[in-house]
Amino acid sequence: MTEHIKIREKNKSDDVQIEVILDECFGQNRRNRTVYLYRKIPPLKYLSLVSCKINDPSIVIGTISFYPVLVNKIKFLLLGPLAVKLNYQGQGFGKLLIEKGINLATSKGEKICFVSGDYKYYKDFGFYKLNDKNLNIKTLGPLSYDHLLICELKKGALNLLPKNSEILPMG
Ligand SMILES: CC(C)(COP(=O)(O)OP(=O)(O)OC[C@H]1O[C@@H](n2cnc3c(N)ncnc32)[C@H](O)[C@@H]1OP(=O)(O)O)[C@@H](O)C(=O)NCCC(=O)NCCS
Repeated sequence: MTEHIKIREKNKSDDVQIEVILDECFGQNRRNRTVYLYRKIPPLKYLSLVSCKINDPSIVIGTISFYPVLVNKIKFLLLGPLAVKLNYQGQGFGKLLIEKGINLATSKGEKICFVSGDYKYYKDFGFYKLNDKNLNIKTLGPLSYDHLLICELKKGALNLLPKNSEILPMG
């Protein structure tokens, strides 16, 4: 039952609420994590989304962003952070954010999306382990989930990746 959930583009006035949710979900020292090395420039505006209740759209319940990254000099997406307020988790706010984000990205012609996350959660949205695709992509440091996951948004896009490469930040 997710009819009461609305996904909308993030506004500047949501920023404080988003920071509180990210601190709550990832801790105050979250900026030390490797993924933040890929977040030095702003995330893509059209893919910076929040979830809220339809009847209370100014209260942010979940948040998702996607950053542009480079592999083999080609621009791809890195999903994250994705987080939902603790007392609203498990009610579909996260799932709708990913679905909307991935659909928007696909419709804009984006080719590949990476995420450092739990395979058990992301597999339902079309993400694979790199091993399963016979790919080895180095990152700038260790990842919390030990690995990157990959989702092909445009058919055949995986062919753009060499077997061994590195994911680099943009900017
Ligand atoms: C992960 C997160 C964003 C999911 O959002 P959510 O709104 O709680 O999840 P949803 O309600 O959309 O989806 C819930 C479903 O995902 C499953 N799920 C949630 N986290 C999971 C995980 N780590 N592994 C496997 N399944 C998971 C639930 O069991 C549930 O399954 P069901 O629909 O079959 O019952 C949220 O729990 C969260 O903010 N967690 C802390 C931060 C985090 O880990 N972010 C992702 C890191 S990349």
